[in-house]
Amino acid sequence: MDKIEIEGGISLTGEVSISGAKNAALPVMAASILSSGENLIYNVPRLRDISTFGKLLAYLGMGYHQENGEVILDSTNISSIEAPYDFVKTMRASVLVLGPLLARTGEAKVSLPGGCAIGARPINLHIMGLEKMGAEITLTEGYIHAKAKRLKGAVVYFDMPTVTGTENLMMAGTLADGETVLENAACEPEVVDLANALISMGANIRGAGTSIVRINGVSSLRPLDYRIIPDRIETGTFLAGAAITGGDVRINNCSTEHVEAIINKLRETGTVITFKGDTLHVKGPDKLVAEDIKTMPYPGFPTDMQAQFMALMTLAEGTSLITENIFENRFMHVAELRRMGADIRVEGSIAKVKGVKSLKGAPVMATDLRASASLVVAGLAAQGTTIIDRVYHIDRGYQGIEEKLKLLGAKIRRVKG
Ligand code: EPZ
Repeated sequence: MDKIEIEGGISLTGEVSISGAKNAALPVMAASILSSGENLIYNVPRLRDISTFGKLLAYLGMGYHQENGEVILDSTNISSIEAPYDFVKTMRASVLVLGPLLARTGEAKVSLPGGCAIGARPINLHIMGLEKMGAEITLTEGYIHAKAKRLKGAVVYFDMPTVTGTENLMMAGTLADGETVLENAACEPEVVDLANALISMGANIRGAGTSIVRINGVSSLRPLDYRIIPDRIETGTFLAGAAITGGDVRINNCSTEHVEAIINKLRETGTVITFKGDTLHVKGPDKLVAEDIKTMPYPGFPTDMQAQFMALMTLAEGTSLITENIFENRFMHVAELRRMGADIRVEGSIAKVKGVKSLKGAPVMATDLRASASLVVAGLAAQGTTIIDRVYHIDRGYQGIEEKLKLLGAKIRRVKG
């Protein structure tokens, strides 16, 4: 397994460009199932998760090609309705083929995702919604087997906002008979990007980005020709890297309106952030001030930035309370940060982070995508060398992170495993 080695203590300076959003590209790729023809999707990040998803769509019979950030998906023929466990176990987002497959072919057989490092992450709300829309669903041998001659519009209330649940049902509703109303829907920018992509295909969707989304079914959809939004979590991760190293960085090609909660919290730590158009200018303070965060559904502080913000708070003056409200086990980066000298105590869903004078570089292990990002952020500021193992986690969600950081002056290199 590859490792990433970082010599800490260097302030990041210069410019970096943000790639397309992984969590928008995945549902938009799934949406191509709903059309029949050649779909073009631009600004797709070159990531392990994207190629895994492309291979799954190819397994379903579609043509898949990715080159320089452009993905071409030929959805003329769907020759299989099954998403096997081998795909789903490596990437939970595979469940996003459930809704579109059912809407396009009337049947879908998708492996249950199984457990995940950060929590149980059930998909009961996806299933509940599809059943409301008339799908007959049986769970056999670890697979969800769904059938529906034609889905019908329904009112679906989510007990809690679910991003991929909202996306699955939004896609299912585009070809259903009648109106589907999603209540307590997720409002994330990636959900809105999917809605905009579906509307560009001819779907009739209103209210995306609010908690009530209305989808009126149409008879067919035309192929995609769509550009993905920038990745707000990659943006937040580079903001944290500049803040923790007292750096001075311009972040280009980002959607400033999608990172308001992150910017507001970072400003409270003393980090100076200004923006003009799609460029953010961030200057890290000489001394960080401890701030509390509580992760919440959008537009609240994103759970996918919790680990990176915690890394920042390990060096802040004072004590920061970090409350994780979305996932039940998203503190696995704590043990690794402690190995670097951080003073963190976890009590249930709250991590109490007491700022220390400095972190010491150490060999650490990535456990999940965003935990590995927090170890990179910490390693950039630590004294000495940090070696991060199992960096395949980071390759799932960050395109060329070591190249981008090297351009900002970081002493970072990949050690081939
Ligand atoms: C999406 O996951 C993202 N993944 C996650 O990003 C992100 O952390 C998460 O949303 C929250 O923002 C993609 O978009 C591919 P949820 P998702 O359904 O859709 C519970 C990353 O780092 N729930 O919004 O799986 C669930 O257990 C990844 O890029 C149910 O109980 O998350 C969780 O506690 C990690 N039943 C909460 O809802 C369901 O049927 C929110 O989960 C569905 C969800």
